[in-house]
Amino acid sequence: MAIQRTFSIIKPDATKRNLTGAIAAKFEEAGLRIVASKRIQLTLAQAQTFYGVHSERPFFGELCEFMISEPIVVQVLEGEDAIAKNREVMGATNPADAAEGTIRKEFALSIGENSVHGSDAPETAAEEIAFFFSGLELVG
Ligand code: CMP
Repeated sequence: MAIQRTFSIIKPDATKRNLTGAIAAKFEEAGLRIVASKRIQLTLAQAQTFYGVHSERPFFGELCEFMISEPIVVQVLEGEDAIAKNREVMGATNPADAAEGTIRKEFALSIGENSVHGSDAPETAAEEIAFFFSGLELVG
């Protein structure tokens, strides 16, 4: 597997509890390099666009309101097989199902307030990176 880039969000429940550094350390310990990072506050329109694929889900409103409730940290992670590796480090979406040692097992509060988001495929990774970062912000 070649070197890949993936997109990550440290979500409001985690930034609020001052867990940005602890979560970043989990990525780095797993061999993922943080090649871009910024702390931002989403607007409702931005959250609705980003999570547009979930717009028909019953939790869509709750999800978008949560994502704008506090600042988030958006990052680009790079490494060998980075998309799968990041999903492994994050753990299952629902922290009740997450494996020991994963970010969601250690830090997530619920399936909604689950501390991190990570891209699920190369196409979504490219789209999500481009949604938040310009080429100028992405150094090698
Ligand atoms: P994420 O990886 O950011 O992608 C979509 C998000 O929707 C997911 O993480 C969860 O935080 C959220 N989500 C999924 N299922 C539910 C649910 N049943 N209730 C509330 N939020 C959910």
